[in-house]
Amino acid sequence: MVQLDKSLRYAPSNLQDIIQTIQEDSRSPYQLVWQEQRLQLLCPDMLPLICDFTQGEYFHRIQSAGIRGELVAKAVNIKKYPQANVLDITAGMGQDGFILATIGAQVHFVERNPVVASMLTDGIERAKLNSQTSVAAERCKVTFEDSEHFLNRSKTAVDIIHIDPMFPERKKSAQVKKSMSVFHQIVGKDIDAGDLLKAARQFNCKKIIVKRPNAAPYLGEINPSSQIKSKKHRYDVYLPLVKY
Ligand SMILES: C[S@@+](CC[C@H](N)C(=O)[O-])C[C@H]1O[C@@H](n2cnc3c(N)ncnc32)[C@H](O)[C@@H]1O
Repeated sequence: MVQLDKSLRYAPSNLQDIIQTIQEDSRSPYQLVWQEQRLQLLCPDMLPLICDFTQGEYFHRIQSAGIRGELVAKAVNIKKYPQANVLDITAGMGQDGFILATIGAQVHFVERNPVVASMLTDGIERAKLNSQTSVAAERCKVTFEDSEHFLNRSKTAVDIIHIDPMFPERKKSAQVKKSMSVFHQIVGKDIDAGDLLKAARQFNCKKIIVKRPNAAPYLGEINPSSQIKSKKHRYDVYLPLVKY
């Protein structure tokens, strides 16, 4: 998966538990390091990948007044559920979920890839230390686990389940797209995402929202109850199959 640098021994203990499960690949072009008090994934010919909610383009996005107009906020219907309990079962780097936390939702992230889960955990912990992101970060929790397993064992009801499986990679040249390409290589394809939707529909929740590129087929070939669309993406909205 990645090379593991010796500096990782200085990472905090909550990260060590996840890092220990990473299968080291000495031939990987990517190296996970603990530098400048944060986890960084060093990648050839590009800036390191860091999960950081406290600066850069993403920070400005979550500070903006338009954040309530974000597609994910519309899909949750944040006006109706301002303090929604959201279970994000394809957490990734937490960008969609952290938007929801910023506008008041409680967000429980579940991520199965140890490189991604350790970076997300680190990003949330550092966001707790920043005065402009701490309130949102305190509303977030990260669990390192396969979400199908999590859904089978957890009994706690939630309002919304959020699913955003990997999309097939498209060719783009900018730095931001390079980072997507690295992400694809680390995570692979979420070929079991249809099963995840099926498991989510058996869970005690009000609705399940699934992010898709506009041209993508329905996840698991299951027709949604409704859709919320933007120029490039849409959310397919599903209702649970079980009444609790
Ligand atoms: C496209 S990314 C999600 C991006 C995220 N919405 C964001 O805004 O940063 C999909 C992520 O879901 C994770 N994933 C896919 N299937 C999963 C499963 N069954 N359990 C836990 N995580 C899963 C992948 O490892 C990957 O990190």
